[in-house]
Amino acid sequence: MTDRILIVDFGSQVTQLIARRVRETGVYCEIHPFNKVTEDTIRAFDPKGVILSGGPASVTGTDTPRAPQGLFGMGLPVLGICYGQQTMVAQLGGVVESSDHREFGRAFVDVNAACALFEGTWAVGAREQVWMSHGDRVTALPAGFSVVAQSEGAPYAAVADDERKFYGVQFHPEVVHTPHGAQLLKTFTHSICGCVGDWTMDAFRETEIAKIRAQVGSGRVICGLSGGVDSSVVAALIHEAIGDQLTCVYVDHGLMRQGESEQVTRVFRDQFKINLVHVDASDLFLGLLAGKTDPEEKRKIIGKTFIDVFEAEAQKIGGADFLAQGTLYPDVIESVSFTGGPSVTIKSHHNVGGLPERMNMKLVEPLRELFKDEVRALGRELGLPDEMVGRHPFPGPGLAIRIPGQEITREKLDILRKADAIYLEEIRNAGLYDVIWQAFAVLLPVRTVGVMGDGRTYDYALAVRAVTSTDGMTADYYHFDHQFLSRLSSRIINEVRGVNRVVYDITSKPPGTIEWE
Ligand code: XMP
Repeated sequence: MTDRILIVDFGSQVTQLIARRVRETGVYCEIHPFNKVTEDTIRAFDPKGVILSGGPASVTGTDTPRAPQGLFGMGLPVLGICYGQQTMVAQLGGVVESSDHREFGRAFVDVNAACALFEGTWAVGAREQVWMSHGDRVTALPAGFSVVAQSEGAPYAAVADDERKFYGVQFHPEVVHTPHGAQLLKTFTHSICGCVGDWTMDAFRETEIAKIRAQVGSGRVICGLSGGVDSSVVAALIHEAIGDQLTCVYVDHGLMRQGESEQVTRVFRDQFKINLVHVDASDLFLGLLAGKTDPEEKRKIIGKTFIDVFEAEAQKIGGADFLAQGTLYPDVIESVSFTGGPSVTIKSHHNVGGLPERMNMKLVEPLRELFKDEVRALGRELGLPDEMVGRHPFPGPGLAIRIPGQEITREKLDILRKADAIYLEEIRNAGLYDVIWQAFAVLLPVRTVGVMGDGRTYDYALAVRAVTSTDGMTADYYHFDHQFLSRLSSRIINEVRGVNRVVYDITSKPPGTIEWE
């Protein structure tokens, strides 16, 4: 079995980043919520070491989270980060106090003693930049520990017990603002825990193919292909495992961007030789959407119709035993909730939830352990074209939510498709596609007066949007230079009949959302 590291989550906003950093060095790890971790679950997981994450609670409060006490007697290396350091110190007999001197953001630590964690990265006497975010701090150490780095606000910024391989840092090594943080984590997992770092996408592909074969046997698998990264990688991987036992269904709702349906057919049917059912259901979808302008109503119609069409196609091919889904690790990680209570629904994102129960199929979810960037690496490994694996996210309801507040017609879809294609082409030509999270055009429900040649025009206004983001939860609008925007607006107005005005959306999320509706 590959080496693995267990990350015990105490609810920090950045726990996922610890996992990303560890995996980037070729070590498999999982995040488990603190309230599900016991000595037995640790033993069953069989890690080479354990990382305790940060978290919003205070060790000084009553009834706040703890690591299982038995962890410290298992002979495993432990690294505590922020709250993780504090609880480890408190559980081993040290003292943690609330402090008036809170430290948030960039700070500097003085390295005042050597320890295995700093080996090869930080020298004694150096002053190093870190990122802090804490109110409480350690004030007395348990036996066996010594201070190895200090900052103004944290006299115990890093503590170590080399004998037992226990380390605690008050700062966050997992964020990029701690420039050597990734290296410190690597030292922990590789040198201290002894992980080899052989968890690569190549190795993952092999083990996953074996798992899929074992799970599916001679059964039949059906996969809904959307042309997006996740379903494309799922399809390519499962096809490699079981060949013709897989059938992919591509439901074309008529709301795709220019050239997308052709690309899906070309790559999967022609290049990969996958059984692909391409259903042109655009008449059905557009018929049902006629006259509808409310965003939630549009989403519901599209979601329900998608399921109906998919189910009908599955029946036509004689059904299947398994449904393949592109569920990713961030969807699976159980989050630690301190606030409780339901959050407000801003938008009901369309997905095919409920389908497996309705059709009585079991799930095949080969990407359940992967983050998005790992899925992309796997896609490249499987030979999918770069433009497919590097593709921006595209919403399930497609262009329907990019024609806001108005009826969707083929004419409007055509205009939007042309403008959107020019926009993406300009972004690619400028070498900006990969630094932008999502970029798209929005056809506005307003006509404006213009003048072209000697004539008056009265055409649509079009908005263009581009945002940077790491997860779609928050986003900033992209700061294009004005030359780019000028070239774009003149190209769109000259080349797309029906548009005579282009505006740029300068709203971040929050307060805006990424899509307009
Ligand atoms: P918002 O607009 O909520 O979007 O800021 C966040 C991310 O989700 C995508 N999005 C959707 N994806 N079905 C989807 O599958 C939807 O109904 C939907 N609405 C928004 C959006 O493109 C962005 O990546």
